[in-house]
Amino acid sequence: MADFERIASLKDLPDNGRLSVFIDDDPALLVRIGDAIYAVEDVCTHDGQPLTDGPIVDDQIVCPRHGARFDLRTGQPTCMPATQPIATYLVEIRDGEIYARPRTANESASESLEGGTAMATAEQSVVDKNAPEETERYGEKIDDAKLIEALQQVIDPELMINIVDLGLVYEVNQAANKVNVLMTLTSPACPAGPQIVQQAKMALEKLKDVDEAEIRLTLSPPWTPARMTDAARDQLGIF
Ligand code: FES
Repeated sequence: MADFERIASLKDLPDNGRLSVFIDDDPALLVRIGDAIYAVEDVCTHDGQPLTDGPIVDDQIVCPRHGARFDLRTGQPTCMPATQPIATYLVEIRDGEIYARPRTANESASESLEGGTAMATAEQSVVDKNAPEETERYGEKIDDAKLIEALQQVIDPELMINIVDLGLVYEVNQAANKVNVLMTLTSPACPAGPQIVQQAKMALEKLKDVDEAEIRLTLSPPWTPARMTDAARDQLGIF
């Protein structure tokens, strides 16, 4: 079993910061969210893209290339096109220094969420025993705001902005436990279209009480930049 090795000083990893490091000679990423510190492999399992600069949403890192997501706690993919997990490392904080080591074959990430050290806190090495289940994260009752919140998790991989802020979502309706979405794409030839549709479906069907999500595409009315929110415009530098 590999020993813990000193990776970095805690003072070099500010809150909401990240640090590219090597753990056991492999490229890895340290991410700090509040007091929690995660260490994950810095290579997307879909096509080898570094995750280094990927947006972080709800304890998940988004691959900047095609939009796959990985749970920082377990490394499991939570969004296509990735289907394989990234490695996560065991982390300890000792005297203001961050130590990490690879897991052994018997130390799965899910096990360590219950009893190991999937992550450490800035205060001490502890386990994220209070990490919410996916269904709890979105609450017991799904209202329209929860549906929109789920769709905001879907990132257009070309523009790196979520589909709601881009103004791609035209209608969201619920009937019993089925959700119907009418949306568009930034252009009829958008190569990311199938991926965006699949991700929107998956994001909604992860919600408790949603049995099925149907995503329909329309090109009428066509999308224009005028549909973007101010936040999206700011992100793209459009004034
Ligand atoms: S390389 Fe990461 S999603 Fe394709």
